[in-house]
Amino acid sequence: MSRRKMIYEGKAKILYEGPEPGTLVQYFKDDATAFNAEKMDVIDGKGALNNRLSEFFMKGLMQIGVPTHFIKRLNMREQLIRQVEIIPLEVIVRNVAAGSISKRLGIEEGTQLPRPIVEFSYKDDALGDPLVPEEYIIAFGWASQQDLDDIVSLALRVNDFMSGVMMAVGIKLVDFKIEIGRVWEGDFQRLIVADEISPDSCRLWDVETGEKLDKDVFRRDLGNLADAYTEVARRLGVLPVNGPQPGKPTLVN
Ligand SMILES: Nc1ncnc2c1ncn2[C@@H]1O[C@H](COP(=O)(O)OP(=O)(O)OP(=O)(O)O)[C@@H](O)[C@H]1O
Ligand SMILES: [Mg+2]
Repeated sequence: MSRRKMIYEGKAKILYEGPEPGTLVQYFKDDATAFNAEKMDVIDGKGALNNRLSEFFMKGLMQIGVPTHFIKRLNMREQLIRQVEIIPLEVIVRNVAAGSISKRLGIEEGTQLPRPIVEFSYKDDALGDPLVPEEYIIAFGWASQQDLDDIVSLALRVNDFMSGVMMAVGIKLVDFKIEIGRVWEGDFQRLIVADEISPDSCRLWDVETGEKLDKDVFRRDLGNLADAYTEVARRLGVLPVNGPQPGKPTLVN
């Protein structure tokens, strides 16, 4: 029996070698971690929900011309993606103050920011993904000024798209994090959205009630995480309204 080669196992996903060069299979695990893996649990169904939701957002982005690594969903937990060189930054976009910006600057959670704020943290678990200024990113060669301009523009397009999609189903996009990858086409490089877009990497608040529908439910022990993600998926029409409906045989004329 042939086993596929595992390339990387992270906290939330596993990457396997893909069927063609330049592709990978991304497997979504049920594991949930927070506070740099100090808090961990297994949440039944989370992987399948994030696989579906990330597919939904990435496909939508591609429909409006934002390039992403998504190729196709393979099954409940796996999708085929384009292999990229990940830029070692978490690109964070904030619309409303919450989490670390509130703590750092003493801004009350829920305060609308005067404009979307894009910030970067250096992807390094041992250091706790520290916030870094553009100056560091350029000086250490993680990305060039041109890359950063492109990354900010991609991040703001993702923000506009995601904010609109969420607002249409009564959810406020408070903030989110994306990862960006480099792909090479001959001598030219392009930057594309990689990793995942899911309630693991966004803050999502119900517009009416303020109820949290994202990973803060797990971080802050606010209830059942899978229920919150299911609610997001249901509102977006990613899951059937009343659960899976077995197909009845129908007569076709
Ligand atoms: N298209 C892609 N090509 C190559 N690597 C990718 C791609 N998309 C995502 N990745 C990387 O795959 C890994 C996904 O695993 P996971 O999200 O579980 O990692 P993690 O535990 O968050 O750790 P870290 O992101 O710090 O490596 C991440 O390292 C991410 O940067
Ligand atoms: Mg990750």
